[in-house]
Amino acid sequence: MKKFLIAASILSANFAFLGKEISNVIKAGADIIHFDVMDNHYVPNLTIGPLVLKSLRNYGIKSIIDVHLMTNSVDNLIIDFATAGADIISFHPENSNHIDRSISLIKEYGCKAGLALNPSTSLNYLDYLINKLDIILIMSVNPGFEGQKFINYIFNKIKKVKKIINKNQKNILLEVDGGINTNNINQVAISGADIFVIGSAIFKSLLSYDETIKNIKNSIK
Ligand code: DX5
Ligand code: ZN
Repeated sequence: MKKFLIAASILSANFAFLGKEISNVIKAGADIIHFDVMDNHYVPNLTIGPLVLKSLRNYGIKSIIDVHLMTNSVDNLIIDFATAGADIISFHPENSNHIDRSISLIKEYGCKAGLALNPSTSLNYLDYLINKLDIILIMSVNPGFEGQKFINYIFNKIKKVKKIINKNQKNILLEVDGGINTNNINQVAISGADIFVIGSAIFKSLLSYDETIKNIKNSIK
């Protein structure tokens, strides 16, 4: 049976007590911690680096940490985040001079490799790389901020990517990031997503994390 994975995006968490926030959402049923790295160049926002990831590991966070690089250069950060304890590292193809080499670098350092595609980014990038990827991260908002609205034409894009994955009979996970909530998650699931990145709908919820994540999971029919 198909298993859907909830990746809680800590961009929406309270950074004043990040370790506690993470253990709370994991206890409440989140499967993965999605770690958004923004450099104020590639996207107009600035977040956190490898030191923070390392601190979380030292604090005792054992969950899968999924690093989403939204930075103009990636290779140095791939090494730093892998060394700090990342499990998955995804980057946007336009930020690497040699995409194939950056994917190999992620794997050399023992992490799963993901390619992140913005709403308007072509799927042509998958033509030659699909065999090397563990994850395809489809952005359903323009990267940079939490709490944006899901872009509706992305449902079709998810379906197309799912077809490509099935055609290649690869064990690639399809991750969708941005604007997911209880109202649209079922349609995202039907379209073909395996991993749902959710920030504001978890951390800004008025209900407890337990109830919120239960509601999110129950919304997938
Ligand atoms: C956007 C980030 C997302 C974001 C998701 O650039 O990559 O991970 O935090 O947040 P929501 O779920 O609020 O759209
Ligand atoms: Zn993200």
